[in-house]
Amino acid sequence: MYYPDEIVEEVRARNDIVDVISSYVRLNKKGSNYFGLCPFHNEKTGSFSVTPSKQMFYCFGCHQGGNVITFIQKHENMSFTEAVRLLADRAGMTLPESDDSGVRERENRRAQLLAINKEAGKYYYAQLRSEAGARGMAYFKQRGLTDDTMRAFGLGFARSSRDETYRYLKSKGFSDDLLQESGLFNYRENQGMTDKFWNRVIFPIMDTGHRIIGFGGRVMGEGEPKYLNSPESIIFDKSRNLYGLNIAKSTKAKNIIICEGYMDVIALHQAGFDQAVASLGTAFTSGHANLIARYARENVRKDELTRYKDILLCYDSDGAGVDAAIRALSILRETGLRPKIINMRPYKDPDEFIKALGAQEFQKRIDEAENGFMYEIRILENEYDLRDPSGKSSFIKDVAARILRFEDPVERDNYVGQVAYRYDVSADSLGEVIKKQAIAGGDVRISQRPLSTRNDRNDISEASRLPQGRLLSWLCEDPGIYETVRTYISADDFADPLYRKVASILFEQIENGEANPADIISMFTEEEEQRRIAEAFHQNVGELESVAMKESALKDLMLNVKRSSLTRGDRDDNDFETIKRLRKQLEELEKATIRLGE
Ligand code: CTP
Ligand code: MN
Repeated sequence: MYYPDEIVEEVRARNDIVDVISSYVRLNKKGSNYFGLCPFHNEKTGSFSVTPSKQMFYCFGCHQGGNVITFIQKHENMSFTEAVRLLADRAGMTLPESDDSGVRERENRRAQLLAINKEAGKYYYAQLRSEAGARGMAYFKQRGLTDDTMRAFGLGFARSSRDETYRYLKSKGFSDDLLQESGLFNYRENQGMTDKFWNRVIFPIMDTGHRIIGFGGRVMGEGEPKYLNSPESIIFDKSRNLYGLNIAKSTKAKNIIICEGYMDVIALHQAGFDQAVASLGTAFTSGHANLIARYARENVRKDELTRYKDILLCYDSDGAGVDAAIRALSILRETGLRPKIINMRPYKDPDEFIKALGAQEFQKRIDEAENGFMYEIRILENEYDLRDPSGKSSFIKDVAARILRFEDPVERDNYVGQVAYRYDVSADSLGEVIKKQAIAGGDVRISQRPLSTRNDRNDISEASRLPQGRLLSWLCEDPGIYETVRTYISADDFADPLYRKVASILFEQIENGEANPADIISMFTEEEEQRRIAEAFHQNVGELESVAMKESALKDLMLNVKRSSLTRGDRDDNDFETIKRLRKQLEELEKATIRLGE
């Protein structure tokens, strides 16, 4: 971590979560909690809850959750540090930039790396326009680019040289250490530093603040690799940046076009579609989806349902492009977006399409973009033989399972109607298949969860995890039960590895006088971990009217936790001592009478 824990905790403590979230989401008080429409997925009923006593939020619909810092990270698409800074500002705190040497050092390195890229960018830019760059210029011209386009994208050229770029930057005073970290050079013991990019046209990659965070270089004509890219670094995170977004973020268009490559974005912009961005060969990630959601949001009024621009996927029409589009579709959908697909056939990509048919025809393709779900189903068709009755019914079952993943009943109905129409089945019987599957899947809510949250609980079953989370949640709400709990349960009894860590921190906090769940969240950096901790702490212990009911519920919970502790997957079966001890504790607990009253 980057700011010392005490500072992070102070920033968190000085920003009341209800206060902060209220400026983004309209919250209504219900009991001791607040509810509102989730800003992280599209919904019509408020499943998004904020708990002041725990200083946490959690959405029962999309299962995102965390503390106030997590919220800002997600909502503003910021790094942890950026979110801490924003909240510090909000609370009028001055962060110790200068006396923490770690912080300063890293800031400094970031600034220097950006400065190196800026100098290198200027250098490549000038070369393209010099005599040495004539080949590069001819290449871009042959691909139809105008001078204005080349300028807008800062295109450049790296000529054939062993180490000219290196020597140039060295002359600007940058240290070898930093130059090596910039990724612009190769280093070998016997050769020293040599230029990574040579005899290639250069595409600078910018963040939304127009700072150059990396480069792509293309061979002119045939050659391998076709594109060479800067490696990831502290300033270049491929999964959180989109090529062209620095320009596309100001578009007036009512949609955002996501394509695959540098030249696609550039050709589209030149044809007037300044809303195009690209994920640059790397797989589309949820980081990209969040970025898109942030810039595609149309309304700013917090009391309205979140509305987005149309998100149009325009991937290559080859097999790899279709596979990539299917994956991107599901990632975008989980972020609450409803992407559509632009059909580029018979051309391979937007660049070739525009060259062949022009901007007007492309606009038509935008207008005809197909709903992403219906596209997915059309691709799915290939896996079944629809002329065969049993093939068709398997297909319909598969489709039903996919429709079931939509949370909104109206949206589900719409798809039922469309699928029924397109595949000539009655809407009633399709509805019937869906209902059967929902029932077979047990809890309707669970069977409707988005994919990603369903598959990530592989090792330990949900059933054993729930009581563990519930016990943690209860301990927070009512630390008075701790005296009783610790007699039977130790932190090590939590079978889930993440909950085990949480338990040991929480137990220590309670022993030191105060449970602070929101602070625990800050100790975990992974988004998924934060989400799961918030999920645990948001479990309802339930309304227990009498002390006797409380005592019996607590005993059941502890028994549950103890039993899963005994069968914990990662326990060494040969550790007889431990197993014997646990068995004995379990027996004692089974016989024990739990007393909670004062
Ligand atoms: N890409 C890459 N490295 C490669 C090949 C591709 O980084 N060796 C990335 C580039 O960002 C490229 C995108 O993937 O723009 C799409 O690749 P591809 O479809 O092969 O290239 P095009 O964009 O069509 O490039 P061009 O039109 O210049 O041939
Ligand atoms: Mn291309």
